[in-house]
Amino acid sequence: MSSYGVTIAGIGSYVPERVLTNAELETMVETTDEWIRTRTGIEERHIARPDEPCSAIACEAAKRALAAANLKPEEIDLILVATFTGDKTLPNTGCYLQHRLGAVNAASFSMEAACSGFIYGLEVGANMVRSGGYRRVLVVGAEKISSVVDWTDRNTCVLFGDGAGAVVLQRAPLGQDCLLAVKLGADGRYTELLQTPAGGSLQPLTAELVAQRANCIKMEGREIFKLAVNAMCDASRTALEQAGVTADQIRWVIPHQANLRIISSVGKYLGVPEEKVYVNINRFGNTSAASIPLALDELVRSGQVQSGDLLLLTAFGGGLTWGAAVVRW
Ligand code: UT7
Repeated sequence: MSSYGVTIAGIGSYVPERVLTNAELETMVETTDEWIRTRTGIEERHIARPDEPCSAIACEAAKRALAAANLKPEEIDLILVATFTGDKTLPNTGCYLQHRLGAVNAASFSMEAACSGFIYGLEVGANMVRSGGYRRVLVVGAEKISSVVDWTDRNTCVLFGDGAGAVVLQRAPLGQDCLLAVKLGADGRYTELLQTPAGGSLQPLTAELVAQRANCIKMEGREIFKLAVNAMCDASRTALEQAGVTADQIRWVIPHQANLRIISSVGKYLGVPEEKVYVNINRFGNTSAASIPLALDELVRSGQVQSGDLLLLTAFGGGLTWGAAVVRW
């Protein structure tokens, strides 16, 4: 039961300064700028400094979201970081972020749903606000994927980038709610399609496993591709129906940025014209949980989203997990 509604009080994002181009990747693995651009849509991605962990990337995005909401860190009472590349397995990255930010009054945790993490986080955060337990919840999607990339594997190293996006969710009167509908899903039969095989309790790290780079991302891209488009479209249709909204009422579809061909197919199958499907994968690559808030922040800051606009967010990723959300800005 909801006691309150929820609004987005502010949004912010951040990417590390260093840009890694396709041309540079050509010197690292057997690939070409042409292959990367035509198969994925990616031209460049941002890579964090060695001394810039996930929480530092998250913190820059969080500061910008707080500034946009005109709030001080101590006014946040819950921090939720969606990431699969947290600072450490223990403690949770929310605590590192809390300390960096000085959000001394915030309970803090992290959660992991890979590329769908931000939509999962929105649903969790919004319900924490609606239930009345928390007034202001900071939801951050943040990744330092470069730390788990095998830089000798051309199948994966050309795809990913680092970055973060954050929103402040704030209590509103009951009946006033920015999150009209959310549909989440998962299918644990496919855990092996996208994974870091070692480094967890199933296969703790050994020197041998590290030498085999078993702590790095392994992906069956082609298999994921097939499942991604269907799952994102199905979740989107369900969320639209639950929200009582038709696809033509949507101002922007903001899909997770994993592959331009996936993004285009999702737009096509949903019947949304190309110019309403936001794309920035060319500049950032796949930033997993950061990709949707990063894209949304760009749209908001460039004045391309107006108050009252309807947005459809949709994501798909390791797990497998997926989700869609209809947002009224
Ligand atoms: O973030 C959420 C989860 N992830 C995704 O949604 C990713 C979904 N998958 C994809 O985006 C695509 O499957 C990829 C971009 C990963 C791969 O594209 P693809 O068109 O599915 O290529 P493929 O894996 O079928 O490989 C085609 C060929 C292979 O060569 P052969 O076996 O045909 O000789 C690969 O070895 O392309 C080769 N290849 C490359 N060639 C040049 C794979 N990576 C590269 C590369 N440069 N970087």
